Amino acid sequence: MDNVYNPTPYIRKALQDAPKKVDPPTNGALRYNGLDTSKIRAMGLNECCYPPSPKVIKAMQDNLSSVNLYPDAQCPRLSDIISERTGVDNNCIVWGNGSEELLKGAIDLSLSPGQGLVLPVPTFWGYKSMVAAFEADVSEIENLPDGHVDTDGILNAIHKNTKIVFLITPNNPSGRLVDEVGLKKVIHGVPEDVLLCVDEAYYDFGIHAGGPDVLKILKTRKGPWITVFTFSKAYAMAGMRIGYALCSDENLAQALQKTTCVFNVPLLAQYAGEAALLDTDYLDFILTQIAAGRNQIFEGLRGLGLDPFPSVTNFVSTPISGNGREMVKLMLEKGIQINAWADAGYENLIRITVGTEEDNSACLAALKEALA
Ligand SMILES: Cc1ncc(COP(=O)(O)O)c(C=O)c1O
Repeated sequence: MDNVYNPTPYIRKALQDAPKKVDPPTNGALRYNGLDTSKIRAMGLNECCYPPSPKVIKAMQDNLSSVNLYPDAQCPRLSDIISERTGVDNNCIVWGNGSEELLKGAIDLSLSPGQGLVLPVPTFWGYKSMVAAFEADVSEIENLPDGHVDTDGILNAIHKNTKIVFLITPNNPSGRLVDEVGLKKVIHGVPEDVLLCVDEAYYDFGIHAGGPDVLKILKTRKGPWITVFTFSKAYAMAGMRIGYALCSDENLAQALQKTTCVFNVPLLAQYAGEAALLDTDYLDFILTQIAAGRNQIFEGLRGLGLDPFPSVTNFVSTPISGNGREMVKLMLEKGIQINAWADAGYENLIRITVGTEEDNSACLAALKEALA
């Protein structure tokens, strides 16, 4: 109402109404709050439980003294590698400060206030704050009870004012991927004047588990698309903040670039990213280890009488008989940091990030006690 006193008229309404910026329980935040993190197994934030490749560490060390200089604004060396691997032109590749910057950029470039956005839920909690910053007409499409994305629901939610549709595969927190049939349905079913944005943060795990090649199908789509990747998961570089987007055409890539800051990817992240991409043996090592760890957790949870979602990622979610958040607290007291699903209606679900074999065993033992 116009006559209501607004003490901060200079702040956009969407941002006044948006929830406070989330402060995830990172290692640093736990330490700041007085916990001895050397005694806590970090299995809550879907980080990689292994350090980055030794070649990545060396690349950063070799370039430490160059951080007085600005980084390349558009990461051309990295684009060359990705372009060669994907067949996507360099001009259609955009780099971001983590993939989250690019997902937010996709909303920024496509939506004016009041226009429509379709999002499957539950999904990565970051979408809540990304979406809240815009005055969007958001259609949240509930996933199916088995955790799969409701592809028909997504297509049915599109209306004449819809500008962007998100598809997250493999999805977080279910760990499930969209199969080839579902992908084709969405990729060809989203109208040609609507932007389709695919979030492939867990791409490497999905491919390793035998999942479909999303890009191959996207390339056959007539309408616009963006697909987004990160170095935070399989490349073990969450702290470096680097990700990239492949776009269907140069105009779209340029629009996405305009949503980002000039020097958005730090210099060390660029050197680290290049070394990570080239060290394919280390990526194989991580993917193999994570697949084994995921299986260990999945079977362990079943052994405790639980019914986990069959994940293809570096985390496993399961319903429990009690409250998820309470379980997170209990487990932290036992030295294991796990997570609970954030969405209303899913209070009985927990999510465990795959750790080393020893982490996983300790987590399962603590969970057994906590459940009892
Ligand atoms: C599905 C999904 N997308 C995107 C992100 C953001 O990743 P980052 O910004 O670290 O690249 C995450 C992080 O957990 C995620 O789970």
